[in-house]
Amino acid sequence: MLKLLFPLVFILLQACNSQDPAISPAKKEAEKKLLRSVTCYRSADKNPRSLDSKGNVVLVPPSDWTSGFYPGCLWFAYELSNDPRFLAPARQHTEILEKQKDNNTTHDMGFKMFSSYGNGYRITHDQAYKTILLESARTLTTRYNPVVGCIRSWDHHKHLWEYPVIIDNMMNLELLFWAFRESGDSLFYKIAVSHADHTLRNHFRKDYSSWHVINYDTLTGKVISRNTHQGLSDSSSWARGQAWGLYGFTMCYRYTGKPAYLAQARHIAGYILHNLPEDMVPYWDYDAPHTPDQPRDASAAAITCSALYELSLYTGDSAGYYYDKAEKTLTSLIKNYMMPDTAKSCFILDHSTGSYPAHSEVDVPIIYADYYFLESLIRRDSIPAPMAQQENASPTP
Ligand code: GLY
Repeated sequence: MLKLLFPLVFILLQACNSQDPAISPAKKEAEKKLLRSVTCYRSADKNPRSLDSKGNVVLVPPSDWTSGFYPGCLWFAYELSNDPRFLAPARQHTEILEKQKDNNTTHDMGFKMFSSYGNGYRITHDQAYKTILLESARTLTTRYNPVVGCIRSWDHHKHLWEYPVIIDNMMNLELLFWAFRESGDSLFYKIAVSHADHTLRNHFRKDYSSWHVINYDTLTGKVISRNTHQGLSDSSSWARGQAWGLYGFTMCYRYTGKPAYLAQARHIAGYILHNLPEDMVPYWDYDAPHTPDQPRDASAAAITCSALYELSLYTGDSAGYYYDKAEKTLTSLIKNYMMPDTAKSCFILDHSTGSYPAHSEVDVPIIYADYYFLESLIRRDSIPAPMAQQENASPTP
């Protein structure tokens, strides 16, 4: 009897989830805005990134680290809606990035190329896209230093850091794992695993919060210093950094099956979930005062949300716990953080913070928040809703 009842309850729960009244209108709103945006940017050789203080759209060239997210949003919108009107713009805004495949001056290759060409290839199987992605991955490997065991993140701030590696860099490993799977060249895999292992060892505090920047010695491979660049202080937890770490280790587990990565993802999720405000959207830094004058970072919430949906797939008896937290985050973003619909704006979410210390993009819409919001909607459609549960394993020590 129980055996018969369980699948029935499961199907009912899924049906309830897919009928959440907030989700469908949010999808439609996102699709409408993105469709409108393609008319505005049809002839542009740049991609939208954020809004300036006058409310004008900031467009960035292909070399900007965020340039892949707008085409990524268009691919997601195509996937969500099946509307063929997204296809040509998605291709156009992807293909302006082609030359970036040879740009070895940045670690942001994955952000740029996997969000754009990666989604394009996944959806269209265009072989030219595959070739470009493999070349991009090859270029990224040139930033790996075997003494340090990591990919170098930045070439700037040489007076501050000898070999800076930032937590964000975990996100660029997906391009390498993918390239290994597609090409069979184990170099991609070895570099990605080495980078993830060193990050796991050196980037985290005892409570599983992470530093933003680790500065390595290139002669010994040892850590010289642990700092921040976009956070409140060297000892604080920059909100988006925690989200990159959670997403990064969850993704690394998907490609490797290594239990240490899954354990790390659960620990990071534990830190985040125990320190979030009630509405699941963090202040720009977890150590910033929880006061109304402090901006939130909706992008960190969207990245975390997408990662939690994925984490629910790998966590057996805690799946319901993570899924439920993802649902709460998505609902909060939809109810409280959607951008009002004005003719000027193509953005979906408001209230992200790029770099508070640099007074840059504070409390504004930013394209990567929209990208991970749309990815969350797509993951929600494809990941079965488990029954809500409490987290069994203690997520923080
Ligand atoms: N990767 C840069 C940032 O998250 O702001």
